[in-house]
Amino acid sequence: MKILAIDTSCDDTSVAILDGLNVIANVFWSKVKVHRDWGGVVPNEAKRQHEEFLPLVIEEAIKQVNISLNLDEKNLFTLNNIDYFAVTYGPGLAIALEAGIKKAKDLAIKYHKPLVAVNHMAGHIYSVLARDAAGKPMSKIEEFEFPILALTVSGGHTEIVLIKNHFDFDIVGQTVDDAAGECIDKVGRILGFGFPAGKEIDEAASKGNSKAYKFPRPMAYDDTFNFSFSGLKTAVLYEVKKLTGEYSSNQSKRKIKFIDDSKKLSAEQINDIAASLMDAVIDCLVLKSKKAILKHKPKMFVVGGGVIASQALRTALIDLSKELNIKFYYPIPFWLCTDNAAMIGVAANFMIKNNINIFKTNEEIIKIDRVPGLVL
Ligand code: KG4
Ligand code: ZN
Repeated sequence: MKILAIDTSCDDTSVAILDGLNVIANVFWSKVKVHRDWGGVVPNEAKRQHEEFLPLVIEEAIKQVNISLNLDEKNLFTLNNIDYFAVTYGPGLAIALEAGIKKAKDLAIKYHKPLVAVNHMAGHIYSVLARDAAGKPMSKIEEFEFPILALTVSGGHTEIVLIKNHFDFDIVGQTVDDAAGECIDKVGRILGFGFPAGKEIDEAASKGNSKAYKFPRPMAYDDTFNFSFSGLKTAVLYEVKKLTGEYSSNQSKRKIKFIDDSKKLSAEQINDIAASLMDAVIDCLVLKSKKAILKHKPKMFVVGGGVIASQALRTALIDLSKELNIKFYYPIPFWLCTDNAAMIGVAANFMIKNNINIFKTNEEIIKIDRVPGLVL
């Protein structure tokens, strides 16, 4: 079963071709450089670039399949060989999602194949089941054993999800304000890093002292499985202002602007702030995961999303799984944590098997719409 999957939920144009769970092509076009100067994603620009680059990224994916399968001239793989198209229809940036959905609809209709509409966060959860072109599980997991407890940590989401069976999701906890990745990116901006800042913050953190500053762990010790990260970002901002001599206790929250204080900080201070921030974020994620595992007693603990690329977070979660003696899986390699279309193709496999969100006729396909606020 050959699946071509598209993800344009944010600023990366991503296309993958899978044979079942085996990823045989995986191509990204990242617009990070374009958006760096803006300190965030510019929706119109993202849409324009998705539209411009999708045909090229698809063409490149087809080329990769032919190289990977070593096919000769007479038996070349083409879009005619695709059995299913799959696309992210939410959550994400509305007009960015739309660009991918439009392309997927055109392809499904042109090649008379069904279209699978996939939830991006389900993709992050299912990412660990991706296999390489030779069929070897990349993240060392053969299959899901239910119930599973999943932790998703990305730029837009921080959720604890109980999964009783394929696509039977129950969100038991989530952030009440900013996502963990959003908090890290905002602190990155305060410290003068580019966007997104996760990778740079994580690297700076590895060189810093995580006990140098005592940042709060909002909601970490309450009775819920929820998170809160917006106060953490504000605490870092106040600390930076104190260090740079710009702190004023009269300053109202509304007046705080992301000024470039980073120029006045030493490299050591930046590393220490990054390390102390990651320590606080990791504490919150680990404490709530532990609590949820102890309550729900899952057979497996699975994590996904861009922030899981943090080495310090992975180490803390590995330690937690050892302490609780639970099977633990995280996406390997790093690109499987951040946004990619391979995970959308993996999730589509299980949707096809369970007959979820498969659109076959032209009338059905045309009606598929973006759902920017889609929940699991
Ligand atoms: O899953 P993802 O690629 O996109 C969304 O669905 O949002 O996650 C992006 C987030 C960003 O906030 C980015 O800064 C963060 O993941 N991130 C990291 C690392 N790499 C990416 N955070 C911490 N450490 C990293 N190495
Ligand atoms: Zn994502």
